[in-house]
Amino acid sequence: MYISNIFEKVGNTPIVSISMEDNCHITLYAKLEAYNPTGSVKDRAAHYILKKLKQSKTINSDTTIIESTSGNFGVALSAYCKYHELKFIAVVDPNITLMNENLIRSSGAEIIKVTQPDKYGGYLLTRIEKINELKKDIENSYWVNQYENPLNAAAYYHTLAREICYQVDEIEYIFMGVSSGGTITGVSQKIKENYPNAKVIAVDVEGSVIFNNPPKKRFIPGIGSSMVPKILSAASIDEVVMVDEVETIDACYELLEKHSIFSGGSSGSVLAGIKKYFSQKELYQPVNVVAIFPDRGERYYDTIYNETWCKNIREKLEKERKQIVTP
Ligand SMILES: Cc1ncc(COP(=O)(O)O)c(C=O)c1O
Repeated sequence: MYISNIFEKVGNTPIVSISMEDNCHITLYAKLEAYNPTGSVKDRAAHYILKKLKQSKTINSDTTIIESTSGNFGVALSAYCKYHELKFIAVVDPNITLMNENLIRSSGAEIIKVTQPDKYGGYLLTRIEKINELKKDIENSYWVNQYENPLNAAAYYHTLAREICYQVDEIEYIFMGVSSGGTITGVSQKIKENYPNAKVIAVDVEGSVIFNNPPKKRFIPGIGSSMVPKILSAASIDEVVMVDEVETIDACYELLEKHSIFSGGSSGSVLAGIKKYFSQKELYQPVNVVAIFPDRGERYYDTIYNETWCKNIREKLEKERKQIVTP
C-alpha cells in the first residue's frame, strides 16, 4: 500500500529486546522513536496536534504556528507545518545546536533567536516573552505551547502507548525521560488503563526542576526542564530516578558498543535510570521493562559523541563532587 507523503508514515516504530547483563531477570524492550520521519518521538506530537487543530478548525491555512523550541519538536513542527502548508515560527535561544537550526530552517520555518538571558540566567522566560509579543503582533497565530497543551499528551496516548501495549505482552515497568511532559503524561495514562499494576518511572537529569530538584546548568538537550510543565499534573508517575550527565554519556556508549544502538542523549539517560533503579532493587522473578528511546545520535555529534565535550563534562562533574565533599 503506497502512501502519498512520508509524513503519513509517522509511528509504528520498531521495538527491540535488549539483554541486560547486570540483571538476568530483566527483559528490556526499547521503543526506537528515531524511526519516525523527522527522526524523533516529537513527530507524533507535531503530526497529531496539527491534524486535530485543523479538524477542529482552531487553525486554518492562514494561521501562523508559533512555538518556543530549540530541539526535536522544532525540527518536527517545521517539517509537519511545511507538509500542511502552514507558516511556522520557532523561537529559539543561543543554546540551539547548529544541526537543529539548519534542520528547522531547511523546512522553510522562520527562526527568531532571543539573546537576552532571563533573571535565572537561562532563556525560558525571554522566549515566552517573545512568544507573547508575536501572538499580539500576528493576527491568526497559534502558540502550540507543548508544556500546557493537552493535545501534546493526547498524541502519545493515542499512538505511542497504543503501539507499546500491542507490541509487548505484559508490562511491569516503563521508563521515560521527561521534558515537556507530553510523552509521560499520555503514555502513563494508557499504560495504567491496560496494565494497572505497571510501574511508570520518570527519568530526569540533575539540574532539571521538574521534580523539585535544585536548578543547575544542564548540557544535554532534550531532557529536563527549568520549569514544571503544567501538562504533567495529568500524568500517572510512580517513581522518579535522577541521573547525571556522566551516567548519561556512559549509557549512550554502552548502547552503541554493546547493542549497536546509536542513541540520542535522553535514551542514554533512560538506560542509566533503569540501571540505577534496579541496582537498588531485588528482583525475584522475570520482569518486562519498556524504555522509550526518543531519538538517535547524529544530532549529538557536538555533545555526547564528541570526545572533548565528554571530557569537559566529566571534569566539571568531578570538580562539583569534590566541592560538595570538601567545602
Ligand atoms: C530527545 C528527547 N528526549 C526526551 C524528550 C521528552 O519528551 P517530552 O517533551 O514529551 O517530555 C524529548 C522531547 O523533546 C526529546 O526531544
